[in-house]
Amino acid sequence: MEGFEIAPNIYWVGAVDWNVRSFHGFQTPRGATYNAYLILDDKVTLIDAVKAPFVDELKARVSHYVDPSQIDVVVSNHVEPDHSSGLPAVMQWAPDAPLYCSARGEAGLKKHYGEGWNFKTVETGDEISLGRYTLSFILTPMLHWPDSMMTYLKEEQVLFSMDGFGQHIASTERFAADLGLAQTLAEARTYWANILMPLGRIAVGALGALKDVPVTTICPSHGVMWREHIPQIIEAYRRWATHQVERKAVVVFASMWHSTEKMAVAIAEGLRRAGVQTRVFDLTETDVTPIISEIQEAAAIVVGSSTLNQTCLPKCGQFLTYLRGLKPEGRMGAIFGSYGWSRGAEAAIRKDLEATKIDLPLNDLLVNFVPTPDDLATCEDYGLEIARQIDDRLAG
Ligand code: FEO
Repeated sequence: MEGFEIAPNIYWVGAVDWNVRSFHGFQTPRGATYNAYLILDDKVTLIDAVKAPFVDELKARVSHYVDPSQIDVVVSNHVEPDHSSGLPAVMQWAPDAPLYCSARGEAGLKKHYGEGWNFKTVETGDEISLGRYTLSFILTPMLHWPDSMMTYLKEEQVLFSMDGFGQHIASTERFAADLGLAQTLAEARTYWANILMPLGRIAVGALGALKDVPVTTICPSHGVMWREHIPQIIEAYRRWATHQVERKAVVVFASMWHSTEKMAVAIAEGLRRAGVQTRVFDLTETDVTPIISEIQEAAAIVVGSSTLNQTCLPKCGQFLTYLRGLKPEGRMGAIFGSYGWSRGAEAAIRKDLEATKIDLPLNDLLVNFVPTPDDLATCEDYGLEIARQIDDRLAG
């Protein structure tokens, strides 16, 4: 196995996890990568490890260029085990290598792996010389964890950005331009929405720390690297971090006997007639991961459920719990559903959406048992009214 040269003597030496399908609940239908980077200089340097089951792949790629025992310096940008659980193996290959990380990184790594390594903690602006190349460090707490930092190689203007700007996708392509900009941005949005959305406001500070750093290559710890399209991903991160929404709506539903489903489709038709780009998801069929990706840029979240046992269906409750934790800001919501002998789903949904600080300007739209043609016409009108509310909010 070999790596991939990014710049003179700088190599991607990561691992491709073609078959992972759930990343602690984040659905990864196209797999993932755990990126690590090797710098051949007077001091041979490894930036990050990989997930523990993939250390043999990391070792094979490193070995193509240098004996792993020759590693002089290790940098750990982030404690999360998808990047650090390979460190015990790395530190066996090169036990005397200093391990550079943030102070919180040191604390976290010691909790996970003990105290036995030669830790060197760094702050933003600290630099180390590798010989020809210089590394400087930029602490980026909450992008993704409090310990997170990025590492910058000054001479080639390469930013090793940790989780930032990453995507969960396995590929033989190593750059966004090769994978395709549209697909890479879509994967980056899914990653942002499901992992980083609740940290968006804090991440703005981290992005600010990068604004005066000239960058020719961004090397994240997941997915492909950025070179030609750096302005596009930086601008996307700015929009996502500040919760900018577009004239889009997401309609989600959980339905027992298709009545709530019919309402969802009719509401979406009303939104479509108003020209609002709309996506409809059956919560009993679709995992939350792609739904949240669509919600990232949607001005409205429309939630429906049949009533079961005087509350919403379990899949709807699961979605609402996940949504609440992601703390979306600045969206409106609307609630609909069919009920039979008793009501209750709408109250459960309202309670959760209010806890998520979703604005609910409209009355709930409820139908007893099966929607009639008149009921479905009312659902279309409801979609039109949601579109008017979206327009008012975007204009304001
Ligand atoms: Fe890819 Fe926060 O770890």
